[in-house]
Amino acid sequence: MAVCDVTSDPVLHPALSERFSPVGFRPDVVMTHEHVDVLLEAARLAPSAGNSQPWGFVVGRRGDAVHERLVRHLARSSSAWAPPASTLVANLTQVGVEDAPDWEYSEFSRYDLGQAVAHMCVQALALGFDSHQFRAFDREGVSAEFGVPAHIEVVSMTAFGVADHGPGEVSSPGTSRERRSRGAITWAREVGERS
Ligand SMILES: Cc1cc2nc3c(=O)[nH]c(=O)nc-3n(C[C@H](O)[C@H](O)[C@H](O)COP(=O)(O)O)c2cc1C
Repeated sequence: MAVCDVTSDPVLHPALSERFSPVGFRPDVVMTHEHVDVLLEAARLAPSAGNSQPWGFVVGRRGDAVHERLVRHLARSSSAWAPPASTLVANLTQVGVEDAPDWEYSEFSRYDLGQAVAHMCVQALALGFDSHQFRAFDREGVSAEFGVPAHIEVVSMTAFGVADHGPGEVSSPGTSRERRSRGAITWAREVGERS
């Protein structure tokens, strides 16, 4: 892969710089099965510790039975904006060993899931779909609803669709878009000669 020259003011790829978590989705936008396949493929190809691939997904397209079963477990906050999204995905990861759920499967299982979900969200933006990851739902409820066994944890959900507002236009509790500075997140780095 070629290395690009960059400007002194960092410019990100649009799939990163244009990502935001909408709190309103267009209810008329349909995500096809082929779109969903592309998102699952993006997750499938994510790196993971020892290639353990601990992730799993429950996918509901608006109007189908899985979507309806996921919607039942939304918290009051997320039920205000998530149901009209084109697709809801519950994000699962294997935390325990199948026959001994108390034994840790991989110390990186949640890390790996997060990375797979990030891949899905970036791929979604490349297809023209926005995404909003969230915790505001009943994890145990989703687990019981879909018969998820004890060694697999329901961690988060993602709503995919097309936003009905722009970034920062609608505020929602707990969804600040403020970021810590690059300096604040850099524990150690030598910046003498640049480049
Ligand atoms: C693991 C995780 C859990 C989140 N939980 C919620 C949530 O329960 N409700 C919500 O509205 N947003 C939730 N978010 C979205 C964040 O609040 C959002 O990403 C953050 O405020 C930054 O805003 P941005 O995504 O628009 O840049 C969650 C995001 C992640 C990654």
